[in-house]
Amino acid sequence: MARRVLVTGASRGIGLAILQRYEQAGYEVLAPARAEVDLASPPSIRGYLDRLGDLPVDALVNNAAENHVRTLQDLTLEEWQRMQAINLTAAFLLIQRLGPRMANRGWGRIVNISSCYSLVARTGRAGYTASKAGLNGLTMAAALELAHGKVLVNAVCPGFVDTELTRQNNSPEQIEALCGQVPLGRIAAPEEIAEMVFFLGSEMNTYATGQTFTVDGGFVIQ
Ligand SMILES: NC(=O)c1ccc[n+]([C@@H]2O[C@H](COP(=O)([O-])OP(=O)(O)OC[C@H]3O[C@@H](n4cnc5c(N)ncnc54)[C@H](OP(=O)(O)O)[C@@H]3O)[C@@H](O)[C@H]2O)c1
Repeated sequence: MARRVLVTGASRGIGLAILQRYEQAGYEVLAPARAEVDLASPPSIRGYLDRLGDLPVDALVNNAAENHVRTLQDLTLEEWQRMQAINLTAAFLLIQRLGPRMANRGWGRIVNISSCYSLVARTGRAGYTASKAGLNGLTMAAALELAHGKVLVNAVCPGFVDTELTRQNNSPEQIEALCGQVPLGRIAAPEEIAEMVFFLGSEMNTYATGQTFTVDGGFVIQ
């Protein structure tokens, strides 16, 4: 029987490329739209999980996120809390419910989509960087707690990727400038991130757990 993966935020960008990569490998993909689950809302997440019931989910990719670029002075509490809710708390709630069930079945893969801005920061990224650094921490703790059930939990830190999120937060001139800051000289295609996510979140990965893997063209090593 085909394995089943749940991918959040798969309507576009990196999430859509991840969905397509799993489909290509024959996985059944659950990709709830925002109308089915609002990841900013714990009650909405719990309601969605309740509706899933006992349906086996073999792999989970926590991909959905928001990024409000504001200086510390301008960042509102609501924006801060919204980023923590979508980028970190939603991943916690999904792992808390689905992780132990994977462990009970003796196999599971969880991949959290973090960011190069969990490892380094940039002006205006306080809320986003805090949420993604938290996600790296959650990755390690969950990997330890779920290892007994052969559930491998990892994070992927993309660098600059050609998506709406990137275009929304950077002008075309800024994107050009970003390319100049990347040792490989360009930003990534979403499919290049999806390939690493699929490796970690499938049968291909047999021994890596609790790690954060950076896929950024060399940006953070400078
Ligand atoms: N793009 C980059 O350069 C880059 C770099 C580093 C890390 N990342 C990370 O990679 C992941 C994907 O980024 P992306 O650029 O592909 O993002 P994107 O194009 O902005 O897409 C975000 C996805 O998340 C969903 N989403 C956001 N808030 C939601 C909510 N409250 N409830 C349900 N769904 C929600 C969106 O759904 P709707 O369609 O309903 O809006 C959409 O499917 C994120 O975790 C991001 O932090 C991206």
